[in-house]
Amino acid sequence: MSTKKHTDIDPERIPAHIAVIMDGNGRWARRRGLPRLEGHRRGYKALKNLVVNAADIGVEVITAYAFSSENWNRPAEEVSGLMKLIRYAAKAELNYMKKEGVRIVTSGRFYELPQELQDQFNEDYEETKNNNRIVLNIAVNYGGRNEIVDAARSAARMVVEGKLSPDDIDDKMLSGLMYHPELPEPDLLIRTAGEMRVSNFLLWETAYSELYVTETLWPDFSKSDLYVAVADYQGRTRKFGKVVE
Ligand code: IPE
Ligand code: IPE
Ligand code: MG
Repeated sequence: MSTKKHTDIDPERIPAHIAVIMDGNGRWARRRGLPRLEGHRRGYKALKNLVVNAADIGVEVITAYAFSSENWNRPAEEVSGLMKLIRYAAKAELNYMKKEGVRIVTSGRFYELPQELQDQFNEDYEETKNNNRIVLNIAVNYGGRNEIVDAARSAARMVVEGKLSPDDIDDKMLSGLMYHPELPEPDLLIRTAGEMRVSNFLLWETAYSELYVTETLWPDFSKSDLYVAVADYQGRTRKFGKVVE
């Protein structure tokens, strides 16, 4: 048996935060002769399963890349289909997320999203804010460069207002201006569908994340894929620039 089982995972070294680039929905659909949106629908089910499977092994945060700042450049029909699907999921899964102890937050330029989607997410935040089993951070209209730009703008405003000296801007200070400074940085970054790139995801926070790329297409990503990724992560030596013998 090549499939890793739960028992292969060391419960003492579970990554606290797993970030996921959920790629390959389009290829999954094309291989079946289905519309791309059907791949996205199956993709959202895969995310729902991931959140619960990750919570079960003690993962504290999942950040899921749902829509990038560059994805607006896709055909209008796909963009509007994705916005509708995200809104549908954010509404349809709310009760399930409440029952499973999931706290929902988002990352990205929120104010640029369709108003109905903002309203639904605001309801999700409010209804799940006291949940503490796992955080689901949905990156929607998210760009890693935009996040850093937004932090730089906040720092510049504080300088203009005389509340901050330019010399006080450092790594820690800027970290505090990112979208979710309260969350730990990702220990593990998973990308599905085989592409070896970060596509503008969490550029600041993944400075020392371990990378894991699988050929599995996102809609097929299962519990055993999660366990294989976590087991692989547990075989790594994290060095943070030091000499580790
Ligand atoms: C990832 O799947 C989901 C989003 C980017 C919204 P893709 O739609 O990028 O799937 P591929 O890369 O075309 O297979
Ligand atoms: C990254 O996937 C964005 C999401 C998964 C939401 P893309 O499919 O957009 O990335 P590229 O275009 O292959 O780099
Ligand atoms: Mg893609």
